Amino acid sequence: MTLTGLRFNPYDYELHDDPYPVYARLREEAPLYHDGELGFWALSRHADVVAAFRDWARFSNAQGISLDPAATGAAAVRTASFLAMDPPRHDRMRALVSRGFTPRRVAELEPRIRELTRQHLEPALERQRFDFVADFAGKLPMDVVSEMIGVPPADRDELRRWADLVIHREDGVYDVPPAGFEASLSLFEYFAGTVAERRRRRADDLTSALLDAELDGDRLTDDEIIGFLFLMVIAGNDTTAKLLGNAWYWAWRNPDERAKPFADAARIPDWVEETLRYDGSTQMLARTTTADVELHGGTIPAGDRVVLLIGAANRDERVFPDPDRYDLERDTSQFVSFGSGRHFCLGAPLARLEARVVLEELIARVSDYDVDVDGARRVHSVNVRGFAALPTEVRRR
Ligand code: HEM
Repeated sequence: MTLTGLRFNPYDYELHDDPYPVYARLREEAPLYHDGELGFWALSRHADVVAAFRDWARFSNAQGISLDPAATGAAAVRTASFLAMDPPRHDRMRALVSRGFTPRRVAELEPRIRELTRQHLEPALERQRFDFVADFAGKLPMDVVSEMIGVPPADRDELRRWADLVIHREDGVYDVPPAGFEASLSLFEYFAGTVAERRRRRADDLTSALLDAELDGDRLTDDEIIGFLFLMVIAGNDTTAKLLGNAWYWAWRNPDERAKPFADAARIPDWVEETLRYDGSTQMLARTTTADVELHGGTIPAGDRVVLLIGAANRDERVFPDPDRYDLERDTSQFVSFGSGRHFCLGAPLARLEARVVLEELIARVSDYDVDVDGARRVHSVNVRGFAALPTEVRRR
């Protein structure tokens, strides 16, 4: 269904400014949207997005979860690891990877996350005016993932630069640009080195735990581990950094809501959850149909690409009353910000832990702040939403 005047192009820089009015129209006017030009379908209602997430047999991950042609088909597993697999392959790898990525391993990271947060925060606060993303929030998640994997501090800036290049999209280019390709290759090469090193000598890190992970005699190959490490830096880095920036920005735009966690740190989880719902860092994911799917009076033919609009589902008034209100009191339990079903985000506890620690450390030191909206700049990516630059000025307690 394509309606006059209603176009949804996820590569469009203008859409990145504010996709929510377009999502609202999609939910109302075209719940089964088809884009003839780019050749994909889009689902925007909460019920449809959740149903598709859970119906893995008809909405397959095996062709990848990105609309980019270069990350689709055979290339998908290389760049998205077990995210680009269906059961039983996915079950096997998720079970093995989960052995190294246990809740205990994540919880144990808290003191180190706090230490890293303080290291980045103190110099920024001394300057009083700083870029919330570039000088602070953007640095932490890569540090955390790096600590888990076993990447030495000296290499982390380069890794962050590569990871940013992998997700950046050029205006008018509907695929991975050459610099993104090169950055992917550099990351693969880098992690191949890490895995080879740990094969020779184990350390106390996730890479070593994955080399030793075993389930009924089954083990991960080196290529599978390298692919998983690649997924960790892409899935775990930018999403979390952007969540922090979004939390900072939306609290600033809504002073009444901002006042709540600043008065009572126990409200920080509500701040995090409502930000994830209201303006989450993962906006959409692609699937490929394995059979004809009938929906809203139309048919998605087998083999077509379908995007599940997480950002639109999280603003569906059928589930979230007054959805365009940023409201720390609301019930966010139905949000789909971390997906749903078999591929539910493996890093969700880690992302929540990082966000809580960072915001706790911030409000312990800052009494209030301003954001320079004119200096703010968004990232341009098909599925990651958030700021590349977010200048802020803080008042210390
Ligand atoms: C705010 C931060 C984050 C958001 C919004 C987010 C979002 C998501 C979503 C929506 C999915 C489902 C993908 C799908 O169904 O196709 C997913 C999967 C995944 N995420 Fe996250 N994520 C975040 C942080 C992290 C972190 C910190 C890590 C790890 C370091 C991580 C690792 C993963 C992995 C490994 C998967 C694949 C799971 C599977 O296929 O079984 N994520 N994430």
